[in-house]
Amino acid sequence: MSKKILLEHAHVAGIETLAVYQKMGGYESVRKALKSMSPDAVVEEVKKSGLRGRGGAGFPTGMKWSFLAKPEGLPRYLLCNADESEPGTFKDRYIMEKIPHLLIEGMIISSFALGANTSFIYIRGEYRWVLDILEKAIAEAYAGGLLGKNILGSGYDLDLYVHPGAGAYICGEETALIESLEGKRGNPRMKPPFPAVKGLYQCPTVVNNVESIAATPWIINNGGEAYAQIGIGKSTGTKLISACGNIKKPGVYEIELGLPVKEFLFGEDYCGGMANGKKLKAVIPGGSSVPILPAELFLKTAAGEDRLMSYESLSDGGFATGSMLGSGGFIVYDEDQCIVRNTWNFTRFYHHESCGQCSPCREGTGWMEKVLHKIESGHGESKDIDLLWDIQRRIEGNTICPLGDAAAWPVASAIRHFREEFEWHVKEPKLSQERNYGLLNKTVEALY
Ligand SMILES: Cc1cc2nc3c(=O)[nH]c(=O)nc-3n(C[C@H](O)[C@H](O)[C@H](O)COP(=O)(O)O)c2cc1C
Repeated sequence: MSKKILLEHAHVAGIETLAVYQKMGGYESVRKALKSMSPDAVVEEVKKSGLRGRGGAGFPTGMKWSFLAKPEGLPRYLLCNADESEPGTFKDRYIMEKIPHLLIEGMIISSFALGANTSFIYIRGEYRWVLDILEKAIAEAYAGGLLGKNILGSGYDLDLYVHPGAGAYICGEETALIESLEGKRGNPRMKPPFPAVKGLYQCPTVVNNVESIAATPWIINNGGEAYAQIGIGKSTGTKLISACGNIKKPGVYEIELGLPVKEFLFGEDYCGGMANGKKLKAVIPGGSSVPILPAELFLKTAAGEDRLMSYESLSDGGFATGSMLGSGGFIVYDEDQCIVRNTWNFTRFYHHESCGQCSPCREGTGWMEKVLHKIESGHGESKDIDLLWDIQRRIEGNTICPLGDAAAWPVASAIRHFREEFEWHVKEPKLSQERNYGLLNKTVEALY
């Protein structure tokens, strides 16, 4: 069983309350940081830890913090990205729902490190009940002198607000999030300037994922070096993985980075293996935006090494034979699943969620959805597969924000690794319809 850093106390009864959280050692890092450390020393510890952003891109958190501009007379902001709208990713919700004070504790020390006196948690609008949990915990923290003026007599002030989104995936992109928080339509901004220079209200801003921020109390309590010793290579620490699909035990797991993928998928402590005795067909290891891998490439790298749950190992081979750890949204497919139908389904999502600013994304996602549906519904021609390849190629890298890439990669990887399945749909239109609609009906029957 992997070491637990974030979820160590997640199952303690009453841990969502301040009293129980403090009994388990909660808010010790705030005491330590505010009373005995300078903001720069906190940044230094986070740098030493090697913590990488858990929102998807894996950018080193301490380095991001050290880029924050500090002009005279302007406030700085920390924004916690709790938008979590990517299909397959549901790990931030777990932290906020089970141990809301862990996030609040992380927000206090991270805001202190950055010199922010006002911070926000931007939460996915559909997480309405989680917002209530957070607000209750924040009220307790204010009452306990952990938020507001002169926290624990240290002279440091912090106000923390939770702001709900309104159901748009694009508002998870950091500059769209900032626009939305300012009360505008959530359109990503052109960069530069980056948020570290001109973010919220044109002031220096850091945007970090929930899980990144929640890792900071442990780092301050135990030291950056201790954190860096957990994990493997440049993938330090632990990571939350939200596992779903055709596995025996879907759920949120905290793993030590470097765990072999085989152990995570088949081990009794984790996913418990494939459901219903089916064979593994494919895995998306990091949320719907990262490339899908067929079973053999998921389990072993192209060089024949055992694949590990780490940033480096999962991306080994580039997109030709690898994928990404991404946000840790682990989606497993068994032998009965149709890759074409699944890709169509994801593409519908990206088309719906495209903000529409950039033509390659606005138009391209729509065209990909149409062509995929044509193939999947048994009306495809062989040239459609090449057309699909061509459209995704024209989206990737040609948009203001990475939503375009996120929409292109699932399509590219599905064609790259499962081209014969696309061809089968074209050659066998009748069978393809029966297969997908038959399967769909079976799934619906199973539900009632
Ligand atoms: C379309 C889109 C949606 C995103 N959604 C999220 C999200 O829900 N949560 C998140 O932390 N990052 C999301 N990101 C990444 C953020 O832009 C940003 O990189 C991240 O919040 C930085 O935090 P980190 O450095 O702690 O990982 C998204 C990016 C894109 C392009």
